[in-house]
Amino acid sequence: MSKPKVFITRHIPREGLDLLKEQVDLEIWDKSEPPPYSILLEKVQEIEGLLCLLTDQIDQRLINHAPHLKVISQMAVGYDNIDVQAATNREIPVGHTPGVLTEATADLTWALLMAITRRVTEAEDYIKQGKWTTWQPMGLLGSDFVGATLGIIGLGRIGRAVARRARGFNLNILYSQPHRLEVGLEQELGVNYVPFEQLLKESDFISLHTPLTEKTYHLIGKNELKLMKETAFLVNTARGGIIDQKALYDTLKQGEIAGAALDVTEPEPLPKDHQLLTLSNVIVTPHIGSASYQTRSKMAIMAAQNLLAGLQGQPLPNCVNY
Ligand code: DGY
Repeated sequence: MSKPKVFITRHIPREGLDLLKEQVDLEIWDKSEPPPYSILLEKVQEIEGLLCLLTDQIDQRLINHAPHLKVISQMAVGYDNIDVQAATNREIPVGHTPGVLTEATADLTWALLMAITRRVTEAEDYIKQGKWTTWQPMGLLGSDFVGATLGIIGLGRIGRAVARRARGFNLNILYSQPHRLEVGLEQELGVNYVPFEQLLKESDFISLHTPLTEKTYHLIGKNELKLMKETAFLVNTARGGIIDQKALYDTLKQGEIAGAALDVTEPEPLPKDHQLLTLSNVIVTPHIGSASYQTRSKMAIMAAQNLLAGLQGQPLPNCVNY
């Protein structure tokens, strides 16, 4: 019997490929950049399984160009690049990789929060520019964590992992999202539910952990940034589109908040001459929240398992639409 044809849009960790190679007729896009949309359109005409990444635009047109497609498996927890409704209309399950990247992403959130509040990248530049001539009693001062307030927008898996870390730093933790958690869980996490505006006004550090949807697009815009303290820092390891970057730039430039650390931007990649990169109180990293060997390997395994289940007509272990 012939094996089902599968297209993978980039090389992924070996642990995922090992699960697939005996079972499917595999084609891997062999470049470090994503396949252009025109290539994807061509490839999907033949295949039964697609293993894709957040850099691939899987829209209605593409899905409707794939007559044999049985499963879309995304190697990421977020899937805002996929038109899930279009897939559902064709009864194609869409898989993703929740859970396995929670801790790695929470770790990076902390790395960014600590780096921006204690000016780590700025301090490194200071040395490289030959400015370190003596110990400065007033130089490169940052902000303490102890006793400060962290506001978490979106207390799902990753938001909670961030909250657990925050307790070790003796922070007060506020959270905001559409639905309040059970009181027992709030107590366990040591978090207080507050309205969105209150969180913006009272937090010293704000971290975003909400998916990108129509409702959360530019959730943090000019008005929201205006509510933040002048001394506050904003961290985003979720999706770039949650922040209106133009408004963020203006706010930072006018000194209306203290700094921002972004692992995700709009667009990605952020052009190297983007105005945000001219500011010393901004850190930008290239969407590396889940970028540890262990985590990427688990994501690849999970994506492969979702793909195989879909090809066999079985329920996907981690499915977003069924
Ligand atoms: C995700 O999985 O959605 C992250 O943004 C990348 O790992």
